[in-house]
Amino acid sequence: MDWIRSLFPGGRPEYTSLPEDELSAGQRRVFREHEHKRKLRLLIVAMFVTILAILGLLFIQATDGSNGRPRRLRKCDTPDLGFQCDANISHSWGQYSPYFAVPSEIDPAIPQDCELTFAQVLSRHGARDPTLGKSVQYIYLVNRIQENAERYGSGFEFLKTYKFGLGADQLTLFGERQMVNSGLQFYNRYQSLASKSVPFVRASDQNRVVVSAKNWTQGYNTALKKDESSNLPHKPLPILEISEAKGLNNTLSHGLCDAFEKGGKYSEVGDSAQATYLATFAPPINARINANLPGVNLTNEDLISLMDLCPFNTVASPTGVLSPFCDLFTEEEWKLYDYYESLGKYYGYGPGNPLGPTQGVGWVNELIARLTRRPVEDHTTTNSTLDESPETFPLDRELYADFSHDNDMMGILGALGVYNGVKPLNNNTRQEPEDAGGFSAAWTVAFAARIYVEKMVCRGTKGNGEELVRILVNGRVVKPHNCEADDFGRCNLDQFVEGLEFARKGGKWGECWA
Ligand SMILES: *[C@@H]1O[C@H](CO)[C@@H](O)[C@H](O)[C@H]1NC(C)=O
Ligand SMILES: *[C@@H]1O[C@H](CO)[C@@H](O)[C@H](O)[C@H]1NC(C)=O
Ligand SMILES: *[C@@H]1O[C@H](CO)[C@@H](O)[C@H](O)[C@H]1NC(C)=O
Ligand SMILES: *[C@@H]1O[C@H](CO)[C@@H](O)[C@H](O)[C@H]1NC(C)=O
Ligand SMILES: *[C@@H]1O[C@H](CO)[C@@H](O)[C@H](O)[C@H]1NC(C)=O
Ligand SMILES: *[C@@H]1O[C@H](CO)[C@@H](O)[C@H](O)[C@H]1NC(C)=O
Repeated sequence: MDWIRSLFPGGRPEYTSLPEDELSAGQRRVFREHEHKRKLRLLIVAMFVTILAILGLLFIQATDGSNGRPRRLRKCDTPDLGFQCDANISHSWGQYSPYFAVPSEIDPAIPQDCELTFAQVLSRHGARDPTLGKSVQYIYLVNRIQENAERYGSGFEFLKTYKFGLGADQLTLFGERQMVNSGLQFYNRYQSLASKSVPFVRASDQNRVVVSAKNWTQGYNTALKKDESSNLPHKPLPILEISEAKGLNNTLSHGLCDAFEKGGKYSEVGDSAQATYLATFAPPINARINANLPGVNLTNEDLISLMDLCPFNTVASPTGVLSPFCDLFTEEEWKLYDYYESLGKYYGYGPGNPLGPTQGVGWVNELIARLTRRPVEDHTTTNSTLDESPETFPLDRELYADFSHDNDMMGILGALGVYNGVKPLNNNTRQEPEDAGGFSAAWTVAFAARIYVEKMVCRGTKGNGEELVRILVNGRVVKPHNCEADDFGRCNLDQFVEGLEFARKGGKWGECWA
């Protein structure tokens, strides 16, 4: 202990611990208890400081990029459940909702005693900025409000200084992350196949779709790398891009069918269903908004634009922080908006449009080829040059991933007939998605929406070795209507293909030039 004394020439300071051998047994015990308590106190203080520091960091992070509004300290988007924050609003934004796992009456898990033999995903791109045309509309609307509002009601004050800062057409960072999550989810669900087979990936060639496909493959490969049971090499997956240029055949992008594309009769169906419904639900909401923004006089169409700014500003934030536009409307009003968007998709591109399902025929015929490993038979939108080559249309894969748009997925769901057998959507009164065969734009074609078609072979239970097919739309098992599905929502492969007669016969392709 001499070295301690040498450090303190004036004598040993009181607070230096006494060497134990200079103390009595009793003193030693008291000293140890004292030391023990002191260490405990230090430990508690240290823990407290650490917790404060972590909270502080989280808070700084939380307020970052969200105009000072603290972000909720929770993870909003996960691979399996999708976007779950503010679900009472964010699940009612039609096709502008971020993907969320849709409730399923049939258990979506792979049934016991079944072995997967095939999986195909058809995915919408992730969340994006508004299309260019819409962005321009929103800028005009914001300018009109700011130039004419005589005052701003409570909750509307932020509009006075709001600056439109969204881009146009491109995937947002939030949207990229959705796609990474989607790739993770697909790998994990189909791990038994994914650990030994390589998926064949195609994307319609618009930038946001191609980047979505890339981000999906990133998530997929991240899961593959973590899978120790797999010996597959970790290589970037090639993506076959199919041109959206006018006049070209592309099963992931409509555009060939003249009558459908040229406006008039067919495009009016969706517009008029929406207009009918808009006139019923918008006026009371608009009266409230206009009372809060005297001098502006928003029209019913302006109201939709104002509401659009909620989802678009939300998905422009990397983590989906709710935009102040969202707080301008109630939960009930968001449901009405959701239904308005559902009508647009259903009558514009889906089962409610006389030529909607015909747009999906080409892809469904490709699906049949993949399910049965037989060459594609189609005379609608497939490109025979692509589909006759094993390089660009292999038939021997177990996993396939295709990336497209909401409107094209609506046509494909129409051609698959999954919303057949229910009454057409009512354009005067909102229907719950459960009452529309599980259809709503948010339940079906949200940002990063995904349709899974899976094949399985089951022993002991149904099938006895026959292949069974089923379809999941965003995690919801949808029973096909044109074959006899079992309790798990599955049909025998043969019956499933037989049931797709509409597609096999080319839909109403002939009417495209009528
Ligand atoms: C998505 O893909 C693009 C293009 O490859 C890449 O630049 C971007 O970093 C990816 N995003 C994420 C979140 O990984
Ligand atoms: C079909 O695909 C080939 C190969 O990509 C392409 O060169 C051709 O232009 C396409 N034809 C049509 C009609 O889309
Ligand atoms: C509802 O929409 C359909 C399709 O546009 C249309 O045929 C029908 O007339 C509409 N009903 C009303 C009441 O507007
Ligand atoms: C608001 O606009 C409508 C037409 O969209 C018009 O009929 C109405 O008179 C206007 N109200 C006011 C207060 O300017
Ligand atoms: C959504 O639910 C949350 C929590 O249940 C509630 O605080 C919030 O007010 C609801 N939002 C709307 C617009 O009703
Ligand atoms: C493209 O589609 C058209 C019309 O459906 C068809 O006649 C033509 O043969 C297709 N072209 C190719 C290359 O498959």
